[in-house]
Amino acid sequence: MIDFHSHILPGIDDGAADMETSLTMLKKAYSDGIDKVVSTSHIYIGDESDIDKFLLKRNKAYDDLCEAMAKDGGKFPEVRLGAEVYLRSHIGRYESVSRLAIQGTDYILLEMPMHKSWRQEHFEAIYNITTLGLKPIMAHIERYLRYRNDFHNLKSLGALFQVNADSFLHKSLRKELLNLFYDGYLHLLGSDMHNLTERPNRLREAYDIIAERFGKEFADYPRNNAKTVFANAGPENAKLPKLGFFDKLKL
Ligand SMILES: [Fe+2]
Repeated sequence: MIDFHSHILPGIDDGAADMETSLTMLKKAYSDGIDKVVSTSHIYIGDESDIDKFLLKRNKAYDDLCEAMAKDGGKFPEVRLGAEVYLRSHIGRYESVSRLAIQGTDYILLEMPMHKSWRQEHFEAIYNITTLGLKPIMAHIERYLRYRNDFHNLKSLGALFQVNADSFLHKSLRKELLNLFYDGYLHLLGSDMHNLTERPNRLREAYDIIAERFGKEFADYPRNNAKTVFANAGPENAKLPKLGFFDKLKL
């Protein structure tokens, strides 16, 4: 399994507070069957120099983590560096945004504003980002259902959509998640793990719930997409069965 959204680097955002937490989070992920983790620490860009500052800090934390993993000798997933880039309208003007792409790919994880309505300038910024050769992945799209009428704008910009695993643990959300699958607004899952307590990794549980309640094809779809996106290719065409009335009741 590949986890496409995580905050596992020690002490650089509101994720893992220290090295011990980072190591324990990664060990737990590995024992859950996660063999690759994309590390997506938060970045809020005021001006372009913030990108350099972030990368220095992030890469240092990563080097320290690699050293600690080697010393520990335990089993850990492969960690690939990326960022969770908060979308501000000016950031599409900065060429160095491309340095925030997920390592080895042209994909970049973007976080849309939560409490402001989405405006034309946000879509323009995403468009500008795509002109740098980047392919956007929209983080935890299930948080933005009130902007659902705008999702098609993101799709027409070529964006993929990531959903947080723990949303599948809420029965009340599952019907909406099924609609996201069907409407092409769900390509990838991520744990968005921040720690071991309030925001742990629920990816294994989510995949189990999807396979059991939605059906195997629904679990295979994001799992296979994760592999192709990790290899910098596009997602597959979804071949998802239509669930009947009683199947939907059981979600
Ligand atoms: Fe996140």
